[in-house]
Amino acid sequence: MSTLEFKDQKLPSLDHYATLAEKFIPARHAIFTTIEAAFVELLESRPAKVLVVGAGGGEEIVRLGQKNQSWSFVGVDTYEPMIELAHKRISANAPQANYELAAIPLADLEETDFDAATCILTAHFVPDDGSKLALFKDIRARLKPGAPLAIVDGVGTSGEPRTELLRRFWKQHALLNGADPEMVESNAENFRKVAVVSTERELELLAEAGFSDLQPIFKALAIEGWLAFA
Ligand SMILES: C[S@@+](CC[C@H](N)C(=O)[O-])C[C@H]1O[C@@H](n2cnc3c(N)ncnc32)[C@H](O)[C@@H]1O
Repeated sequence: MSTLEFKDQKLPSLDHYATLAEKFIPARHAIFTTIEAAFVELLESRPAKVLVVGAGGGEEIVRLGQKNQSWSFVGVDTYEPMIELAHKRISANAPQANYELAAIPLADLEETDFDAATCILTAHFVPDDGSKLALFKDIRARLKPGAPLAIVDGVGTSGEPRTELLRRFWKQHALLNGADPEMVESNAENFRKVAVVSTERELELLAEAGFSDLQPIFKALAIEGWLAFA
C-alpha cells in the first residue's frame, strides 16, 4: 500500500504550521523541553553537533538553539517549503543559533560524527518497506558511537481497537484546542494513510539499525518518543 507523504497532506498555509501543530500534537511543547533536558544532561555544556532529521518548520533549532549556544545544528528535510519556513522561524525566534539547513535526503548528507540527533514526527512519514530501516541506519551512521537519538513518532495499527480509541481521543483533543472541525476530520483521514507502525515495530527497526539501550521518554495518546543510543 502506498503511504501518504507529508507534502501531500492538505496543509492550509505553512506559515501557520507551528500554531496548528501546537493544537494537534498533544503536549507538543513538552516534547522539545523533554529532549532538550535529556541532551543538556547527556551532552553537558560541551560544544556539540546536533543532527536534525525532518528539520522543516524549524522547531527543534528554535527550541534547542535558544539557550544552548555551544551546540551547532545541521538540519535536513526533503520538502523545500518546510526548510524555507525553518529559516524564517529560526531567524525570528533564535537568531543566535548556529545552524545549517539543507533540503536533501539524509542519505545525501556527507557530514558525520554528530554528538546527538533528533527525528521528531518525521519517520512516521517514511514507509516500512525498507525505507524506514534505511533512514534509521543513515542516522546511526552519522552519530558518534554511543551518541543519543531522540525520536518521536505517531504509533499504532489502523483497525486495532486500542489504536482507534486513541485516535478518537486525539480528534477530541484537537477540537478542545480550538482546531477547525473540518481540518480535524481531514487530518484524521490523513493520519490513517501515513506510514505509522506499532511501538513494537518501531523499536524492532531501531534495534535492527543498531541502536541500543532504548529508553521511553515521551507518551501522549498515540505519540511516543524514545532515546536510542548509537
Ligand atoms: C510533521 S513535520 C515535523 C517537523 C518538525 N520535526 C517538527 O516536529 O515540528 C514532518 C517533516 O518531516 C519531513 N520529512 C518527511 N519525510 C522525510 C524524510 N525521509 N527525510 C527528511 N525529512 C522528511 C517533512 O517534509 C516535514 O517537514
